[in-house]
Amino acid sequence: MSKRPRVYITREIFSEALERLSSVYDYDVWDKCQPPPYEKLREKLREFDAVLSMVGDRIDCEIIKTASHRLRIIANMAVGYDNIDVRCATQHSIYVTNTPDVLTEATADLAFALLLAVARRIVEGDHFVRWGEWWRSGTAFHPRMLLGVELYGKTLGIIGMGRIGKAVARRARGFGLKIIYYSRRRLSEKEERELGAEYVDLDTLLARSDFISIHVPLTEETRHMIDEKKLRIVKRGAIIINTSRGAVIDNNALVKALEEGWIAGAGLDVYEEEPLNPNHPLTRFKNVVLTPHIGSATKETRLAMAMLAVENLIAFAMGKEPPDLVNREVLAVRPPGFTY
Ligand code: NAP
Ligand code: GLV
Repeated sequence: MSKRPRVYITREIFSEALERLSSVYDYDVWDKCQPPPYEKLREKLREFDAVLSMVGDRIDCEIIKTASHRLRIIANMAVGYDNIDVRCATQHSIYVTNTPDVLTEATADLAFALLLAVARRIVEGDHFVRWGEWWRSGTAFHPRMLLGVELYGKTLGIIGMGRIGKAVARRARGFGLKIIYYSRRRLSEKEERELGAEYVDLDTLLARSDFISIHVPLTEETRHMIDEKKLRIVKRGAIIINTSRGAVIDNNALVKALEEGWIAGAGLDVYEEEPLNPNHPLTRFKNVVLTPHIGSATKETRLAMAMLAVENLIAFAMGKEPPDLVNREVLAVRPPGFTY
């Protein structure tokens, strides 16, 4: 009888996903809310054939090397995989998979929610009511109370026109926004027409946009893509939304831009350090809305992500190419599947 492969799951996931996984794999789940500490993960991965990991798990070359005598596949439950040293995984013929598409709409919703929250001062308004300031003011309505900015007719600049960037553009059309975008590759004329989006270079986007929404992955090229120099180009009074990765913006430079009023506000779901320390300067600004990396956090989406990560693992175990393989080069050096 052949041995069943073993997968290490770095957080509790949904029972449906575990049930499906157990048809092929034996599993072990890290049952704490915090990620497994680095040393623990390093130690654990030596004993497993596969890992189902999260964005908060740093799987660097050191861990990969230590685990490479046995580990064959890293299935990240995220579309982004900047937490994994993919180059090193490829060198060790380890498959890396992600979970694209299923989280596109949820993440675009959150980007839009942040945009509306900052532009219309929703969180400030909530605090105003909740903490009794409205009641104490005795002002039921005042023409100058909590004034925000209108979306209609303004310009939204999208940086990174991939799956989520396009989903944000589709929402933006409904709000009467003009759309400009900057991305590594220009869309086809047909797609530009359908989205009503105009291609511009990055500096033009920064200078022309009233709202900027960032959707690039974190890579060597995009780390601090928005640094102090770029923030100085941003149109005065613009609002920046970031649901991609914290390190795409130099967070210290962002604090400076907010302190010195170069920008009117920001909506952030991601940070250079996560979780964000409550004493971080970003928490001081009323014109900044902060969420705790919840871009894909809907019940439907998180279940779909877990199921997709599981399907990638199962395909691999069945000797098939996983549907969301990130490092296709491995196919040439090691066929999918476990051999015992
Ligand atoms: P995607 O479809 O790959 O889109 C990324 C876009 O950025 C692509 O158009 C890509 O160009 C472009 N790009 C890559 N490098 C660039 C560069 N150096 N300069 C300009 N453009 C560049 O990915 P997605 O599914 O939209 O996801 C985007 C990112 O969102 C993920 O990588 C992840 O980090 C983040 N995310 C966060 C959350 C959250 O919870 N906050 C949830 C989901 C995703 P090409 O077409 O040439 O590749
Ligand atoms: C979440 O941040 C993801 O990349 O899916």
